[in-house]
Amino acid sequence: MIIGVPKEIKTNENRVAVTPAGVAELKKHGHQVYVQAGAGEGSGFADKTYIQAGAEILPTIEATYGIAEMIIKVKEPIASEYGLIKENQLVFTYFHFASSEELTHAMIKSKAICLAYETVEKSDRSLPLLVPMSEVAGRMSIQAGAKYLEKTHKGRGILLGGVAGVKPANVLVLGGGIVGTQAAKMAAGLGANVTIMDISLARLRYLEDIMPTNVDTLVSNEYNIREMVQSADLIIGGVLIPGAKAPRLITRDMLSTMKPGTVMVDVAIDQGGCFETSKPTTHADPVYIIDDVVHYCVANMPGAVPYTSTLALTNSTLPYALQLANKGWKKACRENHELQLGLNVINGDVVYNGVAEAWNLPLVDVNNYLELETVH
Ligand SMILES: NC(=O)c1ccc[n+]([C@@H]2O[C@H](COP(=O)([O-])OP(=O)(O)OC[C@H]3O[C@@H](n4cnc5c(N)ncnc54)[C@H](O)[C@@H]3O)[C@@H](O)[C@H]2O)c1
Repeated sequence: MIIGVPKEIKTNENRVAVTPAGVAELKKHGHQVYVQAGAGEGSGFADKTYIQAGAEILPTIEATYGIAEMIIKVKEPIASEYGLIKENQLVFTYFHFASSEELTHAMIKSKAICLAYETVEKSDRSLPLLVPMSEVAGRMSIQAGAKYLEKTHKGRGILLGGVAGVKPANVLVLGGGIVGTQAAKMAAGLGANVTIMDISLARLRYLEDIMPTNVDTLVSNEYNIREMVQSADLIIGGVLIPGAKAPRLITRDMLSTMKPGTVMVDVAIDQGGCFETSKPTTHADPVYIIDDVVHYCVANMPGAVPYTSTLALTNSTLPYALQLANKGWKKACRENHELQLGLNVINGDVVYNGVAEAWNLPLVDVNNYLELETVH
């Protein structure tokens, strides 16, 4: 198959969808890989490294889209890319269609096959192409929190681990999923006193078993949250209710009960945020202060560490990309239900329920395209 890897053009996006190691793997299976010049630069991969791995470098985004049967990307296409996407071209990337009606209509019009990273789903309902970014954001939340706790950044001026004779900081983690678990591990490793709160007792039991002794678990409810925020130095928001906006667990009135200089990192900001006072920020201007509480609400946290994020993402996407390239999208999706669930739009038809519902569009049975019998 002819594969194209364009340079990401969304603001502040430095990741790339295929690494030189990925190119070598695709080449080994007999595919041709065309990489747009400079596509890997932001993640530390020079054009010459791609050439050594067997890729051909194309000078422009137009040439890259123009030649490819399958485009592998990171972020959803933006307006200037809509016209480059062709009928029957397979586009494998994050789309997040339910949050953009314009993108949905543009991809319907293109008649391309849109396979979305975010809806590829395993039988245990986990989302294998979202997990790596949650791992990065969870770990980064502690790094960012530690930085903004410094006095020069208007934080409390407390060191997470303390020192001999001085107590460590208190870190409160809301949500014990992927983000929360990684955050708690990092904070505990730095020596902080950590409490993880979740509504799932099964999850809390698991965390209690695997976490080090400086991590406590506590059931999440308003009463407990109200009490815990008063002694916290750093609060991480990592809750998720699938398919819904994040619940507002920390309300405006709670801020006045906190210590001045407390830092709150709202990782769930991409789902609306789990603090009432959260609003999305960027890496260029990541924090703002309300009632002496520092808020960090960057919606694209992994973007700050593109080297790690690119490797983490491509470790997960490459096995799927290989199946698509080796078998073609129809056979690959027929044989792998996880991939099949990634299909969102095919030749102008919406085949993913969440997207059809979001924009009130007719839902077409994906089996019409996969030539499977419809099960009634
Ligand atoms: N800002 C970023 O750059 C970035 C990056 C990656 C992920 N995220 C976001 O981080 C959030 C968490 O992602 P995840 O992968 O850890 O999700 P996850 O599903 O693994 O974990 C979410 C956890 O929240 C818990 N929860 C639900 N309601 C709760 C409540 N009221 N109190 C306490 N816990 C509650 C769930 O039981 C679950 O354990 C998501 O919104 C995700 O989109 C943001």
